[in-house]
Amino acid sequence: MSSHAVIGIQWGDEGKGKIIDRLAETADVVVRCQGGNNAGHTVVAKGERFVLNLIPCGILHPGVRNVIGNGVVVDPEHLFKEVEGLRARGVEVEGRLFVSSRAHLILPVHRELDHLVERFKAAGRIGTTGRGIGPAYADKAARVGLRVADTLDEARLAERLRSLLAEKNNLLQRCFDAPTQAEAPLYEKLVEFGRKVRPLVVDAGALVRRAIADGQRVLFEGAQGTMLDLDAGTYPYVTSSCTTSAGICSGAGISPRALHRVIGVAKAYSTRVGEGPFPTGLHGERDETLRTKGREYGATTGRPRRTGWFDAVAARYAVELNGVDEVVVTNLDVLSGYGPLKVAVAYQVGSERRETYPADLADIAQAEPIYRDFEGWTEDLTGLRRIEQLPAAARRYIDFLEERIGAPIAEVSVGPDRSQMIPRAR
Ligand code: IMP
Repeated sequence: MSSHAVIGIQWGDEGKGKIIDRLAETADVVVRCQGGNNAGHTVVAKGERFVLNLIPCGILHPGVRNVIGNGVVVDPEHLFKEVEGLRARGVEVEGRLFVSSRAHLILPVHRELDHLVERFKAAGRIGTTGRGIGPAYADKAARVGLRVADTLDEARLAERLRSLLAEKNNLLQRCFDAPTQAEAPLYEKLVEFGRKVRPLVVDAGALVRRAIADGQRVLFEGAQGTMLDLDAGTYPYVTSSCTTSAGICSGAGISPRALHRVIGVAKAYSTRVGEGPFPTGLHGERDETLRTKGREYGATTGRPRRTGWFDAVAARYAVELNGVDEVVVTNLDVLSGYGPLKVAVAYQVGSERRETYPADLADIAQAEPIYRDFEGWTEDLTGLRRIEQLPAAARRYIDFLEERIGAPIAEVSVGPDRSQMIPRAR
């Protein structure tokens, strides 16, 4: 490995955590590039279960340096809660965790606005995680946001916080009829955060570029999934960052040429949490059964995920967008005993058959998937480790996914444990 990125090629929750954790073991540096504590990687290390929302999962591997890049939004309270949680379980972060001076901060007012805006939108709500992600990125784009570096300079912090809160308090009061937020206690908290974070703050882009130039093994940890990308996803039902390999480059501060391999991760079926169109979504008992079988509840919010058939139109689009070199298909074991299966190969939009993902939300909303039917299988796959051990129906299913999505499927995962992987010969 030189520099590898792991990207979700569906709507997030593809099971990237396990793939990232395994690669992190042999990495020198692991980097988070976008999103914030809306993400959630569940990693099982030495029999213990860790949920990491913000800190790269290389932290669980001694000797690995971990970087929170400039494209990430950092909630100061959350960052140190996660650090303390790790310390309490014997994971030392000193000298192993680095935070970009350029990363923007999520403030309490962003969390408050996230809730208020969602409530205000009522039926049109996005179903956000409520972590303040959208409002923080909005302030970044509006050039009024606070960055990590601002907390290291008290005079600058006071000035920037004053002007930000003046604007936000106006908004809270006049638009939402909500209580305003006091400046002094927040200032004190941010000064305290500045003191604590100072030893971790670096020019993260420079660190990562140096590591790549020195031939170190750098792993970029994608968060969310391609279909939630701010530009490429099902806008406006998306997150507020760039979740593709392009976001890895801008969010880590590296050139696209410095990314040597892109690994796409997809579940053997689809899930989506939050609102927004989901053409292959299942309903009623079929949805409920798959959710139960796959334990499809959000790692961050605990919300039930909607489930659906594998959408090869979306996955192919994601493969093209990210320049995916190889794909890992996860949760194949979950489909055992689920009966006959379907894969969407195109959409019927009005009188038109579309093989490419529609750009317009109205088209996605009325898209009727055109399915290819597959025989299911009943065998338990969780103990299998070689591709030829898979039932013929499962092999046919995987072969077909590979043909449709346009990238080689390198591995198939058949359970949550790291050992439950089946390599696939090409
Ligand atoms: P936000 O990122 O909290 O603003 O939420 C925007 C949309 O992205 C909502 O539909 C969320 O459910 C979804 N989302 C955000 N983070 C994740 C994730 O890590 N996995 C799956 N969905 C996510």
